[in-house]
Amino acid sequence: MAKEKTVYVCGECGRESHRWQGKCPACGAWNTLAPFTAPSGRRSGGSGTRAGGAARPIPLPAVAMEERERIPSGSPELDRVLGGGFLPGSFLLLSGDPGIGKSTLILQTAAFLARSKKILYVSGEESARQIRLRAERLGLGGADFHIYTETAFRLIREQTLAGGYGAVFVDSIQTVFVETLDSAPGGVGQVRESAAAFLQLAKENEIIVFLVGHVTKDGAVAGPRLLEHMVDAVISFEGDNRHMYRLLRAVKNRFGPAGEIGVFEMCGDGLREVENPSALFIGESARPAPGSAVAVTMEGTRPLLLEVQALITAGGYPPRRTVNGMDYHRLLMLLAVLDKRNKAVFQGKDVFINIAGGLSIDEPAADLAVAAALFSGLRDAALEPAAFIGEIGLTGEVRGVPHLAARVREAAKFGFRSCVIPPAGRGEIEFDGIKAYEVSDVGELISLLS
Ligand SMILES: Nc1ncnc2c1ncn2[C@@H]1O[C@H](COP(=O)(O)OP(=O)(O)OP(=O)(O)O)[C@@H](O)[C@H]1O
Ligand SMILES: [Mg+2]
Repeated sequence: MAKEKTVYVCGECGRESHRWQGKCPACGAWNTLAPFTAPSGRRSGGSGTRAGGAARPIPLPAVAMEERERIPSGSPELDRVLGGGFLPGSFLLLSGDPGIGKSTLILQTAAFLARSKKILYVSGEESARQIRLRAERLGLGGADFHIYTETAFRLIREQTLAGGYGAVFVDSIQTVFVETLDSAPGGVGQVRESAAAFLQLAKENEIIVFLVGHVTKDGAVAGPRLLEHMVDAVISFEGDNRHMYRLLRAVKNRFGPAGEIGVFEMCGDGLREVENPSALFIGESARPAPGSAVAVTMEGTRPLLLEVQALITAGGYPPRRTVNGMDYHRLLMLLAVLDKRNKAVFQGKDVFINIAGGLSIDEPAADLAVAAALFSGLRDAALEPAAFIGEIGLTGEVRGVPHLAARVREAAKFGFRSCVIPPAGRGEIEFDGIKAYEVSDVGELISLLS
């Protein structure tokens, strides 16, 4: 009988320590280390069922490499995020906040894949009846897949192999347990061991395994971050409960570009694709209003138009700076640069920034739009409709941004007749129906807006 060995694993980041500590040495979280016992004789992190010595070194050119055919997911938006569809044997994780629509997405995907593959839908969260009711609501009552409300990995594996299933959907990994550990499902050890066991199931049998994972309040996948290292792709489902749209984002992808997004709308009959996300997010801004400017950000390879809104009011002391949807420190930096170059116009004023639609920007390329919105808000005068693209540096200079041509094209597609861009950007863009104004620093932007 192998001797049991206890290590302590951090529930936030997955770091292992040999002794218990109040604070995780890796991520600094308090009281997150929990004991985890794995039988000795193997490294913890495996499922314990793999026979060693099965693989041999092989020369690289001898490795078979036929291009595997991608299996469409039934949703062009999900396909885009996956890098063109599912690959056989891929091991994927869908993460997201409670109630965001994870079960809805995998149910819709399972129903579509069931047309070409045998699908097993494993649910430890909902009863078969609940799943049937949801399927009815989504208009998928006749979908040809099997529901299995089991949480023991051993049984899930047995059924998958015995039934010859080509894909297994698991809702959620936090409900699954392996019997070799006696801790409760959802704990660090169980999540990690079950995921390792599913990894082996996927790779050895070329089965698609699609796991749902809950996230903690700070956005990390609950249980160890280790889960993110194990899977081929981490797809996060984001959105705001007050808004109906949902963003699907490839946080990590071994089979395609990471950062790619898909946009959906949550409707009574399920998730619907949004073909023109820019139209959704700029919505009202076709009507010029004081304090509003349009930015073009890149989400993966897709340009997206967003409306930046600024409100400037007489401030108290100290003046307030409030942001919704962009980095607070980036706003402070932009205000400092604008004040330095332009007679401290924002000093003593309250400044509010909001990105319409509940979206957020994390790209410096939106700086020019933020600056334009700030000036428009300050003067309480609407800008001429234009898309603003460019980064602002500390000396007030406007810097080039990647994918300028794609951004300008997106703006043109949505009817913008002019755009404001960094200097020397003109060579990159076609002039079909859109006029490009180059600004080399903040001063030029201000004179252009006056
Ligand atoms: N009867 C209904 N009509 C319209 N929309 C509904 C209905 N029931 C649920 N929804 C929508 O479905 C969403 C919940 O979807 P889903 O159960 O797929 O989320 P989830 O991410 O799996 O949640 P959990 O974390 O609880 O498992 C809710 O936000 C709600 O808007
Ligand atoms: Mg669910």
